[in-house]
Amino acid sequence: MSLNLNLQKLKVRKIDRDRNTDRFNIGNLYFLCRMKSNQYQMILGAIEKMDISQVDITRKQTSAYDEFHVRGRAVSEELFSQIELDCNSQVLDLGCGLGGTCRMLAEKFGCQVSGIDYSDQHIETAKSLSKLVNLDDKTEFIQGDATQLPYPADHFDLIITQHVQMCITDKEKLYSEAKRVLKKGGRFIYYDVLKKNEGTLIFPLPWVDDEVFSFLISSEELENKRCSLDFKKIDSEDQSQKGLDFLSSFIAKANDKPAILTGQKILMGDNALEKITNLYQALKDETVSLESGVWIK
Ligand SMILES: C[S@@+](CC[C@H](N)C(=O)[O-])C[C@H]1O[C@@H](n2cnc3c(N)ncnc32)[C@H](O)[C@@H]1O
Repeated sequence: MSLNLNLQKLKVRKIDRDRNTDRFNIGNLYFLCRMKSNQYQMILGAIEKMDISQVDITRKQTSAYDEFHVRGRAVSEELFSQIELDCNSQVLDLGCGLGGTCRMLAEKFGCQVSGIDYSDQHIETAKSLSKLVNLDDKTEFIQGDATQLPYPADHFDLIITQHVQMCITDKEKLYSEAKRVLKKGGRFIYYDVLKKNEGTLIFPLPWVDDEVFSFLISSEELENKRCSLDFKKIDSEDQSQKGLDFLSSFIAKANDKPAILTGQKILMGDNALEKITNLYQALKDETVSLESGVWIK
């Protein structure tokens, strides 16, 4: 416990040194300090409990633990069912977390996928999981800020982001950086939690414990951002009902059989069920919505 606290203090100092401590960074530091510190070992342990030995673990098995958004693997498979990529395609995942979607795309299309995430711990876990399922030659992960991308202009064929923008204050930089590194004609695919009607959000929520660190925008604000950056819109879909159906059945199962929360606890901490229940309530009250969409540069 004290070792953990010391490590967390070190992380805080490291990031303080690198950046000015503004509201954005404090939000991220807070998030980092709440994370489980041995995610990879916990995921391995959970899979091995199902009598699967380490050498036999597949990407589909890790995907129960490494997709940190409502409806997990199922929604990623839907979102990317219509796109065409090949082994020469370059893909970037903004706020990749543990890299589950990166591995799914690399496996499905044989393309090269880069993931960037602010959390160095998520990045270490993402690298270890890719190595575990033999996708480390097709995926690369770097610790960094999605609003200051370390990539050249016009580099990626596809940029994806799922459940990340609500953690980021500077939306202008987030979307303009995505546009800069996307090739002309490249696609930007998002799946996000958005603010809907006025109402009180109950915290903690899956991405944050306290409202000070939550930066939700509405679908209209997102649309304004798209127009101002001159992305063309191909599609958007309200995913709220699908999310509600999923969460309602998940919460019922978790109350009955708490063991199914293992993956969520690794990602969100021991209060995972409370966070998921609050998100379910917010979707039901229409304080938030879930939306996916496809833009083109
Ligand atoms: C809810 S998780 C989603 C992870 C992943 N997209 C997924 O769906 O599995 C949000 C992620 O955003 C990352 N994040 C927050 N702010 C970021 C920033 N400024 N740059 C890069 N990543 C960021 C967090 O570290 C976290 O991994």
